[in-house]
Order: sequence, then C-alpha cells, then structure tokens
Amino acid sequence: MKNTIVIYYSRTGASRIVAEAVAKKLGCRVAEVFYPGHEKVKYWEACKQAMFKRVCEIECDADAQNLDSFERVIFVFPIWAFTLCSPIRSFMLSRKAQLKNYELIATAGGSGLRGCVKAATEILGAAPKHSVMLRDENIRAGKVDLPEWVLLLK
Ligand SMILES: Cc1cc2nc3c(=O)[nH]c(=O)nc-3n(C[C@H](O)[C@H](O)[C@H](O)COP(=O)(O)O)c2cc1C
Repeated sequence: MKNTIVIYYSRTGASRIVAEAVAKKLGCRVAEVFYPGHEKVKYWEACKQAMFKRVCEIECDADAQNLDSFERVIFVFPIWAFTLCSPIRSFMLSRKAQLKNYELIATAGGSGLRGCVKAATEILGAAPKHSVMLRDENIRAGKVDLPEWVLLLK
C-alpha cells in the first residue's frame, strides 16, 4: 500500500512490534521517530512532559521527513500520562501542515486513549478516522490483535 505510512515512536519496544506488524500486514512504509537520550528521561519526567504538553527534540527516518506523498498516516505510539507521548506530540506539531488523513494506534497498560484522540484532534484540527488502544502485556506476550479497520485498509 504505497499511499500509507506507519509512523511510530517506541520507548521500550511494544509500539515498535505493533508498527512493524501493521506495516507488514499493509505492505506499506514504516518510519521511526527518535527521541535522542530518551533512556535518560525518568518515568515521572516523561509523564510531566506529556501532561504539560511539552515538545521534545526529535529525529526521524527519511520517509517521515516529507509526508506530502502519503495519503494516510497511521501513528503507533505509547500512551504517556493518559495522553500523547511527547515525541509524537512534537512530530504532529512539526508536520501538521502535511498531515491529511490519520489514524491512531496507542499501546498502553490500560487507559488513556480518549486523551490521545483529544490531543491529536486539537493539534491537527481534525479527529483521527480510527483509533484503538492495544495492551502492552498482550503485545509483549506475542499477541498483536490488529483492529478490523487496519485489515480493511489493505
Ligand atoms: C512515562 C510513561 C507514562 C505512561 N502512562 C500510561 C498511561 O497513562 N496509561 C497507560 O495505560 N499506560 C501508561 N504507560 C505504559 C505505556 O503506555 C505502555 O507500556 C506502552 O505500551 C509502552 O510502549 P513502548 O514500549 O512502545 O514504549 C506509561 C509509560 C510511560 C513510560
């Protein structure tokens, strides 16, 4: 699927597993957003960054630099403090002019999808077409249940 790209950030690997599974299923490009030095950012500091809507320094794979050639972006990322993690917030803010249709796949311990949808809608000026939360314990146990709408995108 040439017109779709999966863009992900992952701190501990769960979102990466999901991003790669989605890209494989759709046969589309996948690009990572990096937060240099994120391993030194403590849990509560990362929570505060997310809660207070702070941006952070990010780097991206080449495909994520220019989104004009993609019709759809699927974001895969961890929920932080019931909202968007700061690397994905930072990415959305920096590329919002290029973002048309987008979907959200959040990974989490169990809650916060509503906050992510609200934050993304505020930043991008439109709600995601679809959104879903996948539990980290299932992902880490090898169970990645992709929602039906992902399968239908193919
Ligand atoms: C700073 C921080 C804040 C988190 N906040 C939440 C939260 O609000 N709700 C939740 O269910 N899980 C929360 N989690 C758990 C992660 O969202 C979850 O483990 C996720 O799958 C990790 O993805 P990753 O391995 O791709 O980084 C938090 C984790 C971190 C590190």
